Amino acid sequence: MSTTADPGRWLYELLAPAYDRLSGEATLYAVARARTIELLQLRPGATVLDVACGTGRNHELILERIGPSGRLVGVDRSPRMLQRARERAARRGWSNVELVETDVTNLTPELLDELGVDPPSAGFDAVLCTLGLTVIPDWRKAWQAMRRLVQPGGRIAIMDAGYPGCAGQAGETAVLRPVAWLLCRLFAADPRRQPWQLIVNDTDNVVEERYTLGYIGVAAGTRSAQGRPRGTPAATRLAHRPDRGDHYASSD
Ligand SMILES: C[S@@+](CC[C@H](N)C(=O)[O-])C[C@H]1O[C@@H](n2cnc3c(N)ncnc32)[C@H](O)[C@@H]1O
Repeated sequence: MSTTADPGRWLYELLAPAYDRLSGEATLYAVARARTIELLQLRPGATVLDVACGTGRNHELILERIGPSGRLVGVDRSPRMLQRARERAARRGWSNVELVETDVTNLTPELLDELGVDPPSAGFDAVLCTLGLTVIPDWRKAWQAMRRLVQPGGRIAIMDAGYPGCAGQAGETAVLRPVAWLLCRLFAADPRRQPWQLIVNDTDNVVEERYTLGYIGVAAGTRSAQGRPRGTPAATRLAHRPDRGDHYASSD
């Protein structure tokens, strides 16, 4: 694929050394990220797959929950982003983090096996992707891989940036759209995708929430044993949650 069609391929190689300083984590994502991981309902000993894990921003929060008996596998296609994740793991002395370089759209248990990761036979207890599906060119294929790799009854979560919806709905401050557009362009992300809707459409026990003036979407759900046909949304409602600041939530 050409670099024009896929600017994220070289961009994250360039950005890797500065990503943690430039991404605006504290202002834009930290609260949503913590909530995304909380919604995975992780228990000590759980197995977790972090799709497009980048520099491993999620890893400390996940490891706090799964403990030393758990297992965390992070996958990303950028060697330099992964290098930062490896350095983070080495600094913290984490021995139960495995980091794999590959394109997540092709991810299968067999490929993980070939790459030296022994995937849990029934699938991972939880799979998440934060700020990845707006960057990955074939993001719907990446979603299919996420669903494939989580076990029936396991949890899947997505956190990503994007336009909140129709102007005036879901708390959108329309004047901020150009700012959101610019930020997304700088990180090769497409703010129109709203990938958290995949969770709403394709999983059960859905929780959907909005953060950062509605521009960050978080959703988590459970993979049902049979799966649900695409386009059949779980019974969800979009509701203002004044108790949660600017968050908007829906759940079954
Ligand atoms: C904005 S960063 C997000 C990193 C991390 N998940 C976070 O929350 O900070 C997007 C990441 O997606 C990765 N990425 C993009 N396309 C990918 C693909 N097809 N397969 C694997 N990783 C991909 C990039 O290399 C980059 O590390």
